[in-house]
Amino acid sequence: MTDIHLPVLLAETLEGLNLRPDGLYVDGTFGRGGHAAAILERLGPSGRLLALDQDPAAAHWAAERFGGDPRLTFIPATFSRVGEIIAGRGWAGQVDGILLDLGVSSPQLNDAERGFSFRQNGPLDMRMNPMTGISAAAWLSRISEAALDRVLVEFGEERFHRRVARAIITARDREPLTTTAQLAAIIAAAAPTREPGQHPATRSFQAIRIAVNNELGELAAVLPQAVAALKAGGRLTVISFHSLEDRMVKRFMREQAHGRELPPGLPVMGAPQGMTLRLIGRLIRPGVAEIAANPRARSALLRIGERLA
Ligand SMILES: C[S@@+](CC[C@H](N)C(=O)[O-])C[C@H]1O[C@@H](n2cnc3c(N)ncnc32)[C@H](O)[C@@H]1O
Repeated sequence: MTDIHLPVLLAETLEGLNLRPDGLYVDGTFGRGGHAAAILERLGPSGRLLALDQDPAAAHWAAERFGGDPRLTFIPATFSRVGEIIAGRGWAGQVDGILLDLGVSSPQLNDAERGFSFRQNGPLDMRMNPMTGISAAAWLSRISEAALDRVLVEFGEERFHRRVARAIITARDREPLTTTAQLAAIIAAAAPTREPGQHPATRSFQAIRIAVNNELGELAAVLPQAVAALKAGGRLTVISFHSLEDRMVKRFMREQAHGRELPPGLPVMGAPQGMTLRLIGRLIRPGVAEIAANPRARSALLRIGERLA
């Protein structure tokens, strides 16, 4: 069960990528290769897929599942390096489509040892790449209450952020926080009510995970590199899982499509800056059938842009 990941919005993403059998594609978030497998099915012998993922488990999976396929190259890397990696292959400005399916995969969430889950006990880690950076336990051991509070507000939109931040810091000052069960229990005791159908630690775990993995920094870094790598007519497809990420993607794509919005009252001098993308369709969400089959798809949001000349 832990190794199953159903790719979300699969048909919509493939259509959004506008796949050509001989095209050059990049999957910046390989995961378990669900989207990658479907892309490879549609590529001919000269099509190529470059896949990245920072999780060593994804590298293992890529070798197991697609090891013999000469059309696929897997690189263990964060997607904020995509520009340099694409340039290194001589693909700059040549790429037909780039997919980013953000966040964590089901196997990452379901494996207690990775420390993402508030439902199962495990070491308090939460790193997508456990070989680098610092674990959630180390991060929580040194953060100030004010900084933690900000993370809970900004990355988790946690209603009870003050109480939760205070409870975590008080507990941490008593003894080190080392397990997910310990953290989940502290948060549950601090949050006076829960949202229907949600564990009280859902938002705080999300917020801490985003901070530990610098997820918004990664997203801000990859978007301009992705657009720069595309050829004219190439597509950028981004699937996000919470409003914070989606707001960044929406804003970025709109600026690239319409130019940066100037403060009201300022005269416009010449053509607006940007204008590298054309927006394709509107925000796409999964239908009822997909959500029933894959509850993780519930919050998925897909946006598509096409590179202008
Ligand atoms: C939602 S899963 C992708 C699932 C994949 N599309 C599939 O169908 O199997 C997201 C994946 O992106 C990876 N990831 C997230 N942020 C990343 C980053 N900044 N750099 C590289 N990989 C990242 C995670 O490790 C995870 O494996």
